[in-house]
Parts: sequence; structure tokens; C-alpha cells
Amino acid sequence: MILVVGGAGYIGSHLVKELVEKEKVIVLDNLSTGHREAVDSRAIFVEGDLGDEEDLQMIFSSYPIKAVMHFAAFSLVGESVIDPLKYYQNNVASTITLLNVMMRNNVKNFIFSSTAATYGIPNVDVIDEKTVTAPINPYGHSKLMIEQILGDFSKAYGLHYVVLRYFNAAGAHESAKIGESHDPETHLIPIILQQLLGQRDQISVFGTDYDTADGTCIRDYIHVTDLASAHILALESLLNEEKSAEVYNLGNGLGYSVKEVIETCEKVTGVEANVVMADRRAGDPARLVASSEKIFTELGWKAERNLEQIIADAWKWHQKQQY
Ligand code: UFG
Repeated sequence: MILVVGGAGYIGSHLVKELVEKEKVIVLDNLSTGHREAVDSRAIFVEGDLGDEEDLQMIFSSYPIKAVMHFAAFSLVGESVIDPLKYYQNNVASTITLLNVMMRNNVKNFIFSSTAATYGIPNVDVIDEKTVTAPINPYGHSKLMIEQILGDFSKAYGLHYVVLRYFNAAGAHESAKIGESHDPETHLIPIILQQLLGQRDQISVFGTDYDTADGTCIRDYIHVTDLASAHILALESLLNEEKSAEVYNLGNGLGYSVKEVIETCEKVTGVEANVVMADRRAGDPARLVASSEKIFTELGWKAERNLEQIIADAWKWHQKQQY
């Protein structure tokens, strides 16, 4: 049985939908940002907190857990600058509690959701796993701290782990039964689609004077279903004892500017956007684009869905959003 912590959240719920096809799954989620409706009915659901030792011990005592996948983090860069304690408390302290209970119960396989934010402002156009990590905000710090802790736990306690550094997760499940739902929403693609649906008046482009071709920030958008498939491969490699203490980037390897994303949304939906130019948002690097060569070479994974597919699936979800 696999424990998915944060399995009611955006990325966790998409992973659970794939994982239940292969494994028995138990989800632990405190529903602070996740949605109970997003959890596939084939998974066992426990409402509880990853920082609560009793909740965790109950799960490890009751079920034969062979691996843990951890999605239960706060992930907003701007919020982390304003309220770093929230990030260090949950993303670091509570994760240590989880790791502690895992070690106590001799559960030694762990998949950790990390982020492109660990790279800070990279000095290369395409980021690979050897690119220096130098986060520029508490969110990125909190993720890198856990990566470092995992390295030390691996050497000292024999923890086997894979770290997956996501670039910009987007899109929705092809069934449109689950998708991206944050409150408040801050991410670019859902904001654009909400505007196209008339749910908000305008889209603000945060900064038009970056050192990029059209002056707006470039990101590497990766379909949430492609992220899910990478987790399944990483899990298999851990359970088959093929890989451990590995870090992989997960991206498309393609960069799109904010303006290009808006144009692609207009093309896919056939609806014209109402766009205003605005000031830069604090903490945004100009360009974040991944090389995912390493995970392709070692685990055979590559992103299969392009930006148009990401937007088409997100559009289906947003039109009939159920939670
Ligand atoms: N943007 C706008 N207007 C908006 C919202 C976003 O112009 O209304 C811009 C941002 O400034 C940025 C780009 O669109 O340049 C993407 O912004 P998102 O908020 O969608 O995503 P981020 O790149 O800020 O962050 C996301 C995750 C982080 C993760 C990061 C890694 O939220 O957790 O990707 O690349 F660390």
C-alpha cells in the first residue's frame, strides 16, 4: 500500500487517479487546500495532518505501507515571503515529523515533490539537475532544506528517495472530473481561463520589461498527467530497488512567455482575452525552463502533452468546474 500525503490537492489527486490502477492507496490530507471530492473513490481517505504524529502512527500501525509520496506543501512564492513561518512549519517541520515516523516504522521509500524554485535565478537558459541551487524565497528554501535532509537520512538511515523538481504544473485530467482549484487562484493559466469565462474582469501581465523576447516571463508548463506518470515511474524504480537518492527535473523543455500563453489560450478557446499590463510581481525569475534529459535517459519519461493540450484540458475542467 502506498501512502499519498496531500493526495486531495491539485497534483496529488491526479497522481492518485493513476496510482489506484496499480497499487492500493491511502491518502492523508488535512483539506486545508485540498478537496475531498478530488480523491478517487478507490483510495482510502484519512483526514489528518502530516505534522500530527498520532495521525501518522495510526496509519503506519494499521496499513502495510511500503512507500510514501509527499505532496502536502504550501507552494505560493509570494505568500512564502510574507509568511515564512507558515512555510517552514509545514514544509520543513511537519515533513521532518513524517520522516521521523517513517523511520520509526521502518518505511524507507519516499518520493518528494520539489520545485524549480530551488534554482532561484539560474544563470543558464535550460536548467538541468547540476545547475546550482540558490533559492530566492522561503518556499524554495523550504523545499531545498528537505532535499538536503533526505540526502543525510539516506546516508545515515538507509532512506531510499526520489526528488522530483516540478516546473509549472498545469492542465487537468482528461475526464475533466478533477482539475486545478485554488482559492484564491494565483496561477497564470487558470486566471486566464477564468477571465475568458467571464469570472474575472481582466488578466494582469506581471512585468513587460524582462530580458526576454517580448519582455514577459518565460515558464515551462507541464501537464499534471505527465507529472503523475513521472511519479509512477519513480515509484517503480524505488520499489524495484533500481534508483535511490536521485533528483529529477520535470518539465517540457519548452519555454512560453506570459503573452504567448495568453495567445495560446485565445487560440484554443476561440475567446478573446481582456489583458492589462501591470508591474512585476516580487520574486519572479525572468526564465525557468527545464532540461528533463536525465529522467528520460534513466527512467524513460518524457512529457507527452504540449501547451495546447494543457490548455484544452484545463478549459474542459474550468467550464464545468465541480469543486
Ligand atoms: N502571471 C501573470 N499574471 C497573473 C499570474 C501570473 O503575469 O495573473 C505570470 C507570473 O508573473 C509568472 C508566470 O505568469 O511570470 C507564471 O506564474 P504562476 O503564478 O502561474 O507560476 P509561478 O511560475 O510563479 O510558480 C509556479 C508554482 C511554484 C513553483 C514554480 C516553479 O506556483 O510553486 O511554478 O516554476 F515553484
